[in-house]
Amino acid sequence: MLPKKKNSSIFFMICFVLIVILFYSNLKGHKRKAPKRPNSLEQRYIVNEVKEITSSSSSATSSPQTQNNLPTVFCLIKTHPANIKINKTLNIYRVWGHKCDNYRFITLLPEELRPQNPTDTVEVFDNFYMIQPKGLVRENHDDLSLKLYYSMIYVYEKFPFYDWYYLVDDDAYVNVRNLKEFLKDKPSNESITYGYNFKVIVEGGYHSGGPGYALSNAAFVTVSKALKENINNCPNSGIDDVDVSACVRKYKGKKGVSMDEYGRERFLVLSLMTHFTGSYPDWLAGYSENQLQKGLNCCSDSLVAVHYMSPRDVFRLDLAIETQKNTLNLHDDYLKLGKNITFKNIIKNYIMLLDIEDETNNYKDLINFK
Ligand SMILES: *[C@@H]1O[C@H](CO)[C@@H](O)[C@H](O)[C@H]1NC(C)=O
Ligand SMILES: *[C@@H]1O[C@H](CO)[C@@H](O)[C@H](O)[C@H]1NC(C)=O
Ligand SMILES: *[C@@H]1O[C@H](CO)[C@@H](O)[C@H](O)[C@H]1NC(C)=O
Repeated sequence: MLPKKKNSSIFFMICFVLIVILFYSNLKGHKRKAPKRPNSLEQRYIVNEVKEITSSSSSATSSPQTQNNLPTVFCLIKTHPANIKINKTLNIYRVWGHKCDNYRFITLLPEELRPQNPTDTVEVFDNFYMIQPKGLVRENHDDLSLKLYYSMIYVYEKFPFYDWYYLVDDDAYVNVRNLKEFLKDKPSNESITYGYNFKVIVEGGYHSGGPGYALSNAAFVTVSKALKENINNCPNSGIDDVDVSACVRKYKGKKGVSMDEYGRERFLVLSLMTHFTGSYPDWLAGYSENQLQKGLNCCSDSLVAVHYMSPRDVFRLDLAIETQKNTLNLHDDYLKLGKNITFKNIIKNYIMLLDIEDETNNYKDLINFK
């Protein structure tokens, strides 16, 4: 009896010690493994601190690394809280935003992330990097130029060394690789811009903001510096694409030509299917610098950007282009045909994907590809 009793008390003592050790090590382990989550809103803010998101070790004080001899591109993407809420913005980030060498979404911050009475531009990370430009207190069409201007000043101060800056809306599809290929032999040290060319309103014309447009480093720095000196150095009609082009022109910047060698557009002002089917609104012919074209002549094999694309359109077009490229690479490895991607195959692929998604058969109506 006694020895047994003694045994059991030793047993309990050992158990107790084990439990204490386990509990302690578990606590320590938990402490070590706990993810570093910001536990207050304040900790999410990145103010006056440079966060680089590129894989290269670029910093704001030196020139970012170029890859494959391609220029670096910083994307400034306009969005707003309603689109953030429905994940439209997140879709843009996931499909193409993350392919820019660096980027910021520009928005009035969603309410739960919004600081009280900010006096300057605020930056926040929540799924992606966002900046709320100085002075933006509500999303308002009349304030779009200032929204962009204060964002440009912020980006200029923190990230002044990218070769190109791409200003674009959150309902656009951008093929970042094609953008870089297109820009690679263009002079980023001269003040010049590329996009969809309108011939009206601004003397010398302007680029539609919808599909986006690229400002060379020289153009971006010149305009941003002028804005930093005095925000009134650039016009403020509220229509940001008009105003930015007018300001580039004011400081002697040029408007580049973006058509390909067959006169087909690389930047599409309307949706992909509008350009393909040629169902243009009447006003466009009076605005566009280039002859409007349709069918396979509408669009370049090296398509860069398309406006008015729903989240599904954005994803589908990326899939249509990127899977096609992969297919052609495999094809080339196997059969050595050396075929390049064509707009014809992009649009075929796009329409087929649409049919697969929706259980439709639109392809049969559009099969007359010449
Ligand atoms: C948006 O995306 C987040 C993260 O993937 C997800 O948790 C959330 O449910 C999505 N919201 C909507 C409205 O789809
Ligand atoms: C831009 O760079 C090129 C190549 O280095 C040079 O030839 C050209 O003069 C430069 N242009 C300006 C405006 O600095
Ligand atoms: C494919 O594109 C490359 C680069 O533009 C060009 O050199 C080549 O000739 C093209 N190949 C074909 C089959 O058109």
